[in-house]
Order: sequence, then C-alpha cells, then structure tokens
Amino acid sequence: MASKKLLLLPGDGIGPEAMAEVRKIIAYMNAELKSGFELEEGLVGGCAYDAHGKAISDADMAKAMAADAVLFGAVGGPKWDSVPYDVRPEAGLLRLRKDMELFANLRPAICYPALADSSSLKKDVVEGLDILIVRELTGGVYFGEPKEIVDLGNGQKRGIDTQVYDTYEIERISGVAFELARTRRNKVTSMEKRNVMKSGVLWNEVVTANHKARYSDVQLEHMLADAGGMQLVRWPKQFDVIVTDNLFGDMLSDIAAMLTGSLGMLPSASLGAPDGKTGSRKALYEPVHGSAPDIAGTGAANPIAMIASFAMCLRYSFNMVEEADRLEAAIAGVLGDGIRTGDIMSEGSTKVGTTQMGDAILAKFKALA
Ligand code: NAI
Ligand code: MG
Repeated sequence: MASKKLLLLPGDGIGPEAMAEVRKIIAYMNAELKSGFELEEGLVGGCAYDAHGKAISDADMAKAMAADAVLFGAVGGPKWDSVPYDVRPEAGLLRLRKDMELFANLRPAICYPALADSSSLKKDVVEGLDILIVRELTGGVYFGEPKEIVDLGNGQKRGIDTQVYDTYEIERISGVAFELARTRRNKVTSMEKRNVMKSGVLWNEVVTANHKARYSDVQLEHMLADAGGMQLVRWPKQFDVIVTDNLFGDMLSDIAAMLTGSLGMLPSASLGAPDGKTGSRKALYEPVHGSAPDIAGTGAANPIAMIASFAMCLRYSFNMVEEADRLEAAIAGVLGDGIRTGDIMSEGSTKVGTTQMGDAILAKFKALA
C-alpha cells in the first residue's frame, strides 16, 4: 500500500477547532475503514511564534517535506499584529508554499442545492454550480523582481512590482488545468490580459501550444481576465476549469467563492511539482478562510471548509475518490437536513456549533458507507 503520511498544522484561532472535526473523521477512517493514515502534528503561525519565535520551525518544515500531504488550518490574529514582518504568522504559510513548490492552487466553487437561496445572485444563476479555479501560485507579480520602493530623491517614491512568467511555469499550470478538466466536464478557460500585458501574450501562446501538443481532446477557450470577472457573475455555469495567473487568480477565485456563500464553506488545495522518480507530488490543503479571531474560542466556527479540504486531500493526494465523493455527499446531506452553523443559518434551519456540525457530517459519512 502506498504511504499515507499526513501532517496536521492546525494553526491559530478557529484553525484548531475546525481541525478537531477532521481528526474525528480520520480516526474513524483508520479504525473502521483501515485507511492507514500516519498522522504527524506541528505548529504554524502565531502559536509557533509564541513557542519558538518563528512562524514555522525547521523541524516542522522537515515534517511537511516528508509528508505526502499537509492539512493546514489557519494562521494569524491581532495578538501577532506587531511581530516582525519575516516571522509574522503568514510567513509560515508562505514558507510552506515556497519550499514545497506549491505552484497550483485549486479553488472549487460549488453551490450546494440547500444553500442556493443564500447566494447574493439569483438562484437559477448559481444552483448546481460546480467550477474549479486553478491559480498559479508561485510566480507572477507577487514574486517577480525587481520588487521595491525606490526613493526618487525629489520627494517622490516609486513602488515597483514585476509580473514575470517563464514558459515552463505556464506549461505546468495549464497542464494541471487540462488534466483536471479531463476528470470533469473537459473544458478549460484560460484568462490573462494579452491586450495590455506581454506576460499575457506569452501566457496565451504557451497555453495554446500545450493544448495543441498534449490536450487537444479538451475544449479550450481564452478570455480576457476582466471580461472573465464579468462572466463569472453573469453566468458562471458556462465554466468548468478556469486557469489563470497568481494576481488574477487571487481576485477571480475570491469572486467565484462569493457566488456560493460563506467563507466557512470554501476549501482549497495547493499542488506541488511531481517528483521525477515517483510521479507523486506534495500538496497542501486548507480552508480559504482565516483564523476568524472574532469567533475563535466560541465553538461557532463552521468546520465544513476544513472538512471539504480534507475531501480534496483524499481525492488529489491519495486517489481515494470513493471516500472523497462520500465525504462531500455527507456535507451536502447534512446541509440538506437543515443543519447549519451561524454563518450559513437560514430561517427554518437548526443552528449548531462546530462540534455538532462535525459530528453530523461524520454520522452521515458512516451512514453512506
Ligand atoms: P477571516 O477569514 O478570518 O474572517 C472573515 C470573517 O468571516 C469573520 O467575520 C469570520 O468570523 C468569518 N469566518 C471565517 N471563517 C469562518 C468559519 N469557518 N465559520 C464561520 N465564520 C467564519 O478573515 P479576516 O478576519 O480578514 O482575518 C483574520 C485573521 O486571519 C488575520 O490575522 C488574517 O491575516 C488571517 N488570515 C489567515 C489566512 C490563512 O491562514 N490562510 C487567510 C486569511 C486571513
Ligand atoms: Mg485572496
């Protein structure tokens, strides 16, 4: 059996509360389904800073590099607002992304039927929505050099960020998108701004060439990223997989997320480069939300984003497609039963806390076995 080394990094705020609900599911899977997960734990974020002055220790970083997958909760909070920039909680996540070379960020936007009424868009626009945004995560304007603030000496300063993409970066992110599309509805929409950006011209060329060479069975369309933003709120169901760069992906995935409701519902996956020898890749799974300091410790956090992140982990890291489908069906089933945390509460539903939501999903998961 292939190894299933899983590192849990719960982090700060509601991170540990949400992670506790995943831990219950893993315990059940190990005990009853003989799933064979080998669990490790570590500290990341503010709690790591408090323990040893770094956002993630070298020892925990080594655990992440040795793991097949990392489950990450959330980091940050007002308590650490004034710690030095390079050891602030978010630095832990950035180091994980960099050292694990997590270049592909996957953000699904799924509209659960039971929540179609709570979208800010009309029900028929979002009902049944199931799209996947693939965002390039390790390149582009967030990392390109030069990146600085220059004093021009005349009372003016100049802030500089540089958008840079090389062929191999565009090739590998589009490859991930094409491969995922094959497991879905077989369509990729590539978004850039080739009308005003050289990196956009190259992006378009490389995606087109990659498609022609290796993925011509997949339907490919190109869209300018700003038009893509409009289309996402006008008629999102036209999309299957969207692939785009780091900056546009940051914004477009947040827009897509809000089509379907609360932050507490949204999972994500970040995939690394495949290892040349084994073909397997490192990956990190995390909810889109942060540490929610305003509700941390109150037992009110919605654990669904964290649990759905674990479902993505089952699907993409361990090829446990049946279990992933079943866990996602358990989430949909519990929502269908009218069980809701505060962030997704609606009239006539039953309001529960973090633990009860986790218990209800686990019970449904068992019942569907
Ligand atoms: P946030 O996502 O933590 O919270 C935004 C709002 O959504 C809050 O009102 C919160 O209560 C609510 N919310 C978030 N997750 C929820 C859940 N699971 N259930 C119910 N309600 C939920 O974003 P915010 O407030 O901007 O940031 C708080 C802290 O988290 C900051 O220190 C920020 O830097 C950090 N952060 C960390 C991230 C990460 O670890 N990946 C991502 C985003 C923010
Ligand atoms: Mg964002």
